[in-house]
Amino acid sequence: MAGRITFTIIKPGAVQNEHIGPILSKITDAGFHIAGIKMVQLSRNEARQFYCIHEEKSFFEELIEFMVSGPIVVAILEKHNAVEDFRKLIGNTDPQKADSGTIRNMFAKSVQANAVHGSDSDENARKESEYFFSGFEKFFVDEKNCVQGAMN
Ligand code: CMP
Repeated sequence: MAGRITFTIIKPGAVQNEHIGPILSKITDAGFHIAGIKMVQLSRNEARQFYCIHEEKSFFEELIEFMVSGPIVVAILEKHNAVEDFRKLIGNTDPQKADSGTIRNMFAKSVQANAVHGSDSDENARKESEYFFSGFEKFFVDEKNCVQGAMN
């Protein structure tokens, strides 16, 4: 069964260009509940750890430099079929290939400065959320769509 959470980063560039508000509006308009959110500045080590799966890629060092170039917004998003639906909402990694109306089509500058990250699987959504958020920083909704207290 498809999971209920995904994890996103609004990346430097999108933050610097004041796109946090418009991006979050697109996300909530698409039916996602924001279960956790904060603005942070990554260290090089944290960025390396987060993106360790790409360590062997030719763009890895550039990606790390970009991700530490300014503050980012990290968020846990909740919705039925969250991972797949969010990837549709953000569009292709390369903004030139992203469908019109997707977040990357609207706000990304390049493959590297592509405005947002979205988890690629339920397992990674859980791992990535846990990397940034403690149990006291997550507020999921119940079956009546009421926001609940902090929980894991
Ligand atoms: P993201 O969804 O955060 O996951 C890995 C990131 O690596 C990706 O978005 C892009 O920002 C970046 N990336 C992927 N391919 C390239 C590439 N060819 N050149 C530069 N950056 C890339």
